[in-house]
Amino acid sequence: MQIETLLAQMGNRRDVKTGAVSLPIYHSTTFSHPSVGESTGYDYSRTKNPTRFVLEEEFAKLEQAPYGMAFASGMAAIDAVISLFSAGDHIITSKDLYGGTYRLFETIGKKAGVTVSYVETGDADEVKAALIPQTRALFIETPSNPTLRITDLHAMVKIAKEHNLLMIVDNTFMTPYCQQPLALGADIVVHSATKYLGGHNDVLAGLVATRDEAIAKEILTYQNTIGSALGPQDAWLLVRGMKTLALRMARHEENALLLAQWLEQQEDVTKVYYPGLPNHPMAEVHRRQASGFGGMIAFEVRDEAMVVPLLNNVSLFTYAESLGSVESLITYPAGQTHADIPKAIRESYGVTDGLLRVSVGIEHADDLIADLAQAFALVRRL
Ligand SMILES: Cc1ncc(COP(=O)(O)O)c(C=O)c1O
Repeated sequence: MQIETLLAQMGNRRDVKTGAVSLPIYHSTTFSHPSVGESTGYDYSRTKNPTRFVLEEEFAKLEQAPYGMAFASGMAAIDAVISLFSAGDHIITSKDLYGGTYRLFETIGKKAGVTVSYVETGDADEVKAALIPQTRALFIETPSNPTLRITDLHAMVKIAKEHNLLMIVDNTFMTPYCQQPLALGADIVVHSATKYLGGHNDVLAGLVATRDEAIAKEILTYQNTIGSALGPQDAWLLVRGMKTLALRMARHEENALLLAQWLEQQEDVTKVYYPGLPNHPMAEVHRRQASGFGGMIAFEVRDEAMVVPLLNNVSLFTYAESLGSVESLITYPAGQTHADIPKAIRESYGVTDGLLRVSVGIEHADDLIADLAQAFALVRRL
């Protein structure tokens, strides 16, 4: 079945008793047992909840995996994956990484004795050079947040297989609609479902998919032990949002391409990062592993003094953290999402004080371009 159909049908036909087309929300935290030693399959919602379970099963299908797990946030999902590692283990990850993941590695990871090397994973030789006997995993973001760097997933799978490493991909920017890393050979996929999957800036959630039963069991045990599962109301919101993912992603991409092309022509813009632009250095690699480019763009302005007045003068773009929703957002990575990364480190891979990131929504592209055009015009007059 095609992914558009799986998405639109999420939750339908799951409640055979009533025929409810919209997935029922089971708020119950506990479930009665038919008799001693018997269970309906549900005992206590931290372990398994009927609404969350439908989301998990249907999400797993999208990633072509037998196991899906839903968490209270993307960070809770990543934390559960990182719990697979113990003191002495080493992880190689993308240099240009979501700031929250960097913080997790540098705080909780470090405390647990897990060491991390940040390399340009777009360069397989850099990854190979960072391998040490204790290396257990590759943790990849592609495209990366915020400079949209691309990592060759086929090359990473090859390295992972050769060195017996777990290959983990944060697929937040692409969603399973555009990129399915497990089908390419990755072991674990994580998502901040708060972004494109939810799509409406109204639910915080994380998802993990894997094809490996032992990994799934270990992650589920961790989730059940610490209680980081997604609540039923949020699981329903996520299913509701995901039904329109295919339509939204197509429109995000259409708008993003138009905006990226327009930004490239602006004299105040010195760099535009978007994998859909033919001059993106890894455009070809991205095309081999993904079926779309998504709706995220980053661009650098001529003078960092323009950043604040630009942010103050956009009226349609909302100056806010996060991404992937129907409404267009503009973010200042150096001051927001990546503020926890030391300046010298973030600048070494392009997160400068003049970099802005836009999450292109599904509004009319003309209105989005007009908004940025008027903001640039105002800033030039200052
Ligand atoms: C690529 C990526 N991964 C993970 C996360 C964390 O997700 P959440 O905010 O849902 O905890 C984010 C959040 O922005 C993200 O952009």
